[in-house]
Amino acid sequence: MLTFRRVSLVVFCILAVLFCFSDSEKKRKLDAIEARIKESKTLSESLINEYARVGDEQNRVLQQEIQRLDKERKLLELRLQEVRKLSDASSTVAEQLDFLVPYRVDQKFPAFIWQTWKNDLNDAKLNPEIRSYIQSWDTVNANFVHEVLNDRNAEKLVKHLYKNIPKVVQAYQAMPTPILKADFFRYLILFARGGVYTDADTEALKPVPNWFPNWLNADDAGLVVGVEADPDRPDWAQWYARRLQFCQWTIQAKPGHPVLRSIVANITETTLDRKARGELGLAPGSEEGADIMNWTGPGIWTDMLFEYFNSVAAEPVTYETFSKRETGTFVGDVLVLPITSFSPGVGHMGSKSVSDPMAFVQHHFSGSWKPEAERM
Ligand SMILES: *[C@@H]1O[C@H](CO)[C@@H](O)[C@H](O)[C@H]1NC(C)=O
Ligand SMILES: *[C@@H]1O[C@H](CO)[C@@H](O)[C@H](O)[C@H]1NC(C)=O
Repeated sequence: MLTFRRVSLVVFCILAVLFCFSDSEKKRKLDAIEARIKESKTLSESLINEYARVGDEQNRVLQQEIQRLDKERKLLELRLQEVRKLSDASSTVAEQLDFLVPYRVDQKFPAFIWQTWKNDLNDAKLNPEIRSYIQSWDTVNANFVHEVLNDRNAEKLVKHLYKNIPKVVQAYQAMPTPILKADFFRYLILFARGGVYTDADTEALKPVPNWFPNWLNADDAGLVVGVEADPDRPDWAQWYARRLQFCQWTIQAKPGHPVLRSIVANITETTLDRKARGELGLAPGSEEGADIMNWTGPGIWTDMLFEYFNSVAAEPVTYETFSKRETGTFVGDVLVLPITSFSPGVGHMGSKSVSDPMAFVQHHFSGSWKPEAERM
């Protein structure tokens, strides 16, 4: 008998198949467009080579052909952007992210340095110390592209980079305080573009390429992080969110890295969930710092890293894997630098001086936007 329930079930199944179909169809179209773009590039290149060899009359014809191909390629690239989108109904945020920026470990670390600051750099109110820290990144890494974005431009960039994943943009815009947005932004920019993100109150001590130990090939790694805190004392929980905590004031990544994918998906879902429940406000009083730590800060960053380590390593990975190390540790495709690298000169937890050969970045903790627990 054709009951209402059966009809709904059948309709539901058909819809589900249609949605699956439409995504695999999209993937197929995407491959075809990519192949066409590649073909068109090869053809343009061969025409340009030929152009150098033949006479004037033929040149005009060839030039027209090259222009036509360029135009066609621009249109195809626009199409490609539209197709590079999976629907909310048939895919998770993590799947949509994976589709937007596929990860390849064998690409180079992009030579970008990303920073954010509340206002513009030419703002007279910009603290001279912060200005000199920002400049240190140019001095030490002269051939990197260095972008310092103000809050307005950071939001514009997020909208542009994630226009095909509306949930990510909605989550960013729903965040109730600049601290959360500043945290979220670093993962978003590194996932989409890669390179180095570093807080405005960090000073570059050594060139970025020198962060790599000579026993490790940069083609095998996709993410570089540093230990922030390793408090070997029974009351550690009064001071830090995790027994061993990774810093997120400086991170280097290749675009699409799976840890960044996990944290962007986690933060997006947590935020939209809190929004739906009307609980976007931060926990009150002494819980506020921990709330930020777990939502966007070093707490959730550390959790996502340990989850990843344990999904790729044969042996269990715990805080002891990284505790009290003086050199880098390599797990999966992640280089974990010792506490001295991004947190030198703090005078405890095994951190050595800023002149140590392993000291790469100094954090001056001058950010008034940081929660109390992060400022100590
Ligand atoms: C985010 O990650 C944390 C830590 O692993 C987990 O407890 C939480 O359930 C995750 N949230 C979402 C929405 O995935
Ligand atoms: C933060 O996360 C830790 C570890 O999962 C948990 O013990 C703590 O209760 C959380 N605190 C808040 C305020 O969410």
